[in-house]
Amino acid sequence: MTFSKSTLYLVASAAFFVTGTLAQAETIKVGVIATFSGPNAIWGKQFREAIDVYVAQHGDEVGGHKIQFIYKDVGGPNADASKAAAQELLVRDGVKYLAGFDFTPNAVAVAPLTKQAKVPAVIFNAATSSINKQSDFFLRTSFTLTQLAQPAAEWAAKNGSKKVVTAVSDYNPGIDAETAFSASFEKDGGAVLEKIRMPLQTNDFAPFMQRIKSSGADTVFTFLPVGPATFAFTKAYNENGLKAAGVSFLGGGETDETTLDALGDQAIGLVTAYHYSDVHDSALNKSFVAKLQELHPGSRANMASIGAYDGAELIYRMIKAAGSDGTKAIEAAKGMEWESPRGPVKMDPVSRTVVQNVYLRRVEKGADGKLVNREFATVPNVPDLGFNP
Ligand code: PHB
Repeated sequence: MTFSKSTLYLVASAAFFVTGTLAQAETIKVGVIATFSGPNAIWGKQFREAIDVYVAQHGDEVGGHKIQFIYKDVGGPNADASKAAAQELLVRDGVKYLAGFDFTPNAVAVAPLTKQAKVPAVIFNAATSSINKQSDFFLRTSFTLTQLAQPAAEWAAKNGSKKVVTAVSDYNPGIDAETAFSASFEKDGGAVLEKIRMPLQTNDFAPFMQRIKSSGADTVFTFLPVGPATFAFTKAYNENGLKAAGVSFLGGGETDETTLDALGDQAIGLVTAYHYSDVHDSALNKSFVAKLQELHPGSRANMASIGAYDGAELIYRMIKAAGSDGTKAIEAAKGMEWESPRGPVKMDPVSRTVVQNVYLRRVEKGADGKLVNREFATVPNVPDLGFNP
C-alpha cells in the first residue's frame, strides 16, 4: 500500500495535533490545608463537603484540565504544621494551587512559600485583614473581621446601644474586630466601656460574663473563632443571665449553623452581622444546601462551607483563564465577580478579598422547628475595610 505525500502530511499533522493537545492538558492538583482532627475538626469537614458539592455540580474538569483536590490535616491553629503541609504539597505532590486555611496563623505561615513558588493560595476562612498584605498570591473568599465589625457597630449605634463592652479572642482577628468596632461605634457617639481580650484556648467564659454584667454596658460585641469557643461563649451568655440583666448580644459566628441547635431556644433573638446564613433566600442557595444534604445527609451549610464553595469557584475560574500559571491566575482573578449562594461577590483587585453583602441576622425558629439565622437587613457590597495597601 502506498500513501500520497499529502496523506502522509495529514497523518503527521494529526499526530502532532493530538500530542500537542495532550501536552497542554494536565491534572492540576489543589492542596487544601485545614483542620480535620481535634476539637476544631468541623472546619475540614465543612470545607471538604462544600468542595464535594462544587465538583458534583461542575465536574472535575475545567479548561481541558483534570482537577484533583488533596487534603492535609494540620490539627487546629498551628503555624508550623501549616508550613510543613504546604511544603510537602508543593514539593512532593506538585500542587499548583493552595487553599483552605481556617485559622489566621495557618495562612500567615505559608506567605513566603506562596511567593517563592508563585502559587495562588485561596483562603477559605482566615479573616485578619493584614494576611493578604504578606503575599500577592493570597486571595480570600471568606470575609474579614473589619468587613463585619463596622456594619455591626453602625447597626448598634442606630438601634439603641450606647455603652458597649467588646469581648474578643486574644489573637489577630479578635484584635481587628475590637479595633474596627470601637472606632466606628465611638465615631457614631457611642462609648466603649471595656475591651476584654480572652485567651484563644479557653472555653470557660463565666468570669468574663461577670465582668461584662458589672461594667454597666447595654451591649456586648464579641468575636471568637467558630467552634467550641463560640458555642461555650454563647452558652455562658445565656446561662449567666446577661439578657435579663439588660446586656444585648451582638456578634458574628457565635450562632453558627453547626452549633445553633445545640444552643437551644435560649439562642432565639441573638443578633449577628455576617456574610452568610444557610437560609439566605435565593434559588442558588437553596440548590447549594439541597446538594449538600443529598451528598452528606445531616450536614448543615455554614460560613466555612460558603468560603470553600466560592473558593472552588475561584480556583476553577483561574484554571480556565491561566491553567497552572500562578502569576497569570492571580492577575485573572482580580475583579472577577459572580453570584454566590450568599449573594453577589467580587474579588477586590487591591485587597484580594471578596466584596460582599453583610447581613444583620436574628436567631429564629424555622418552619421545621430548627433554629436559623434569619437575615433582616442588608448592607450591600462591603469591601475589606481594614486593608491598607
Ligand atoms: C481566623 O483565625 O482568622 C478565624 C478563625 C475562625 C473564625 C474566624 C476567623 O470563625
